[in-house]
Amino acid sequence: MIQVIRKKNYDEISKAAADLIAAAILLNPEAKVGLATGSTPVGTYAELVKKYEAGDLDFSRVTTANLDEYRGLGGDHDQSYRYFMNTNLFDHVNIDKSRTFVPDGTEEDAEKACRDYDAILEKEIGSFDIQLLGIGGDGHIGFNEPADNFCVNTQCIRLEEQTIQDNARLFFNGNLDEVPTEAYTMGIGFIMRSRKILIMATGAGKKEIVEKAFLGPVTPWVPASILQLHPNVVLAGDEAAISDAVVEKYK
Ligand code: GLP
Repeated sequence: MIQVIRKKNYDEISKAAADLIAAAILLNPEAKVGLATGSTPVGTYAELVKKYEAGDLDFSRVTTANLDEYRGLGGDHDQSYRYFMNTNLFDHVNIDKSRTFVPDGTEEDAEKACRDYDAILEKEIGSFDIQLLGIGGDGHIGFNEPADNFCVNTQCIRLEEQTIQDNARLFFNGNLDEVPTEAYTMGIGFIMRSRKILIMATGAGKKEIVEKAFLGPVTPWVPASILQLHPNVVLAGDEAAISDAVVEKYK
């Protein structure tokens, strides 16, 4: 089941997404929350911080796990996803940082890094109450790039050229050479175990891939398309990213 929420602009959809995450935490103060990085959820995290500051949200018993991390970057590197989470959310709310999990980008043994993260997900999460996702320009979720098969478990992935360019444009001061070429990412199997999935898409650059993922066939060549098979998905986006055809289909 897919519910589409379309708002006028980035700020409005950020508020709506934060409301859904806040609701999950209010319903279960010990909620397990899956988190994403990228430019899309930045506004959502800012709204969650506002709710915390207003005294409306308590993160003290919440556990989080992130989708992915660049292979080779430590948490103090300002382009690492651990750093992103600290600066955009964790440093500003009352979450216990030892209850926030991100794959270990400094583990050089890829096999070990992946198995370790799967073990953490099994032990500390089980399944998410809510999983926040963005969508890559090529339809990736987490860093699960287009492939022959949907990957079940945490994997080490070679990033697609488009992803490297997208991420250089938005981060890494536009410097292509600095973007790592590999990342550890939670598998699609674990993402699909979440009780609720909130996938966000904002900006005109996402319109086409959102149509492919939600109007096209389910295929590992568009990894986000698998969400069509999940029982509880909210697709949240702005008018630039969500076309009338997508709204119509899921009315
Ligand atoms: C990265 C992240 C994804 C994210 C995607 C889109 O590749 N690994 O989790 O969804 O970027 O990023 P943005 O929100 O900046 O468009």
